[in-house]
Amino acid sequence: MAERSIIEPFRIKAVEPLRSTTRAEREAALAEAGHNLFALDADDVLIDLLTDSGTGAMSAEQWAAMMRGDESYAGARSFARFERVCSALTGFAHVIPTHQGRAAERILFGELVRAGDVVPNNTHFDTTRANIEFQGAEARDLVCPEGRDLALEAPFKGNVDLDALERTLAEEGERVPVVLVTITNNSGGGQPVSLANLRGVRALCDRYGVPFFLDACRFAENAWFVREREPGQDGRSPRSIAEEAFRLADGCTISLKKDGLGNIGGLLALDDPDLAAACRDNLILTEGFPTYGGLAGRDLDALAVGLEEVTDPDYLRYRVRTAAYLAERAWDAGVPTVRPPGGHAIYLDAGALLPHIPAHELPAQALACELYLEGGVRGVEIGTLMFGRVGTGGGPDEPGPHELVRLALPRRTYTQSHVDYVGEVIAAVAARAETLRGYRIVEQPRWLRHFTATLEPLDR
Ligand code: F0G
Repeated sequence: MAERSIIEPFRIKAVEPLRSTTRAEREAALAEAGHNLFALDADDVLIDLLTDSGTGAMSAEQWAAMMRGDESYAGARSFARFERVCSALTGFAHVIPTHQGRAAERILFGELVRAGDVVPNNTHFDTTRANIEFQGAEARDLVCPEGRDLALEAPFKGNVDLDALERTLAEEGERVPVVLVTITNNSGGGQPVSLANLRGVRALCDRYGVPFFLDACRFAENAWFVREREPGQDGRSPRSIAEEAFRLADGCTISLKKDGLGNIGGLLALDDPDLAAACRDNLILTEGFPTYGGLAGRDLDALAVGLEEVTDPDYLRYRVRTAAYLAERAWDAGVPTVRPPGGHAIYLDAGALLPHIPAHELPAQALACELYLEGGVRGVEIGTLMFGRVGTGGGPDEPGPHELVRLALPRRTYTQSHVDYVGEVIAAVAARAETLRGYRIVEQPRWLRHFTATLEPLDR
């Protein structure tokens, strides 16, 4: 029997119109935005694949839960429900809500990380790296060798290189205050981490007496990949795989704007009572009282429902298939992507598509801008603009590790015909790839320059 389509496992109850623009309008909007896609008005974007963070649709049950939100300043019922769901999922004793993931990172690293420290991770996400560097510490990426080869097909390219981690722990000793693992490995192509690898990290952290924290924004997508790819995990529920992953760690930071299925929210959860108390004290300075952490009660309720919905196998099967389907459209157009496709996004390899644009002329930014100009599709550069280092002595910037354009899929938001349209836009740009030009940075801030830098196209 022929395989049937994997359909969106929901029907649509509220719709939001999209606004089309002409190419001339998009050219004007992009110039006005300093050729930085973050600076565009969202109304000037047709299909917004800038991020999968906070951009998804909530379910009817989540909207219903919002009406139950208890907005009491302290001890709200919403917090009790949120705490119960987070404890059951993660097993951690202390549940601290934050307004989003990076707030959890700032608070945790503010308590754990000191100047001169080294923090290993498979690959640090940009805010994680920035929050570690802000403490004067080094954020060290130790992804496995397969994870550095974009085109290689391997099941768990997000895995930590355990030999490299052991060397770091042995050589840096007391200077390693915490080991992080990001599931899925967003900056490394949305690649999953196996349970076996997480067990390996746990064993090393035990041997060296260092705490192990997950950056678990996409824990459900990671669990789905484990079920599909890891020997012995076939047919297991994504929920029980996720529970096991959390129980291998000592704590986690999570942006609940991803697999929390919320539009806002974050979580810091951990077992160490002294560290938890210090983090709560720190939280009060900027996030608010520990039973709401910068969120409204209604947000906590929506997240409590989202965290239970997200491990539904039908949802995860459709979710992961959507990214694979979009990757197939890119391959049909001759555009290489990171392989295999990630769970939340595909990553177009601009370095391979645009060999005539050197890294310091920002080929991935050139591709991202062109996808917008061609069809109003907004993605994000993950290349030298995001991860490069400002060149010293007026020289060119040191390149980032890869030149990628990430097209991230908001959860439960776009249909298959939207995805087909994006495939057509990719194909149209790829057909004239050799005509694309590089960019140069006109102005940039000190931290996280890709968010606010202004750029201009080079004329050759
Ligand atoms: N860690 C990872 C792996 C992330 O992907 C993100 C956010 C964060 C931490 C920070 O969470 O945004 O809630 O403060 N990633 C988004 C993205 C922004 O587009 O990939 P936040």
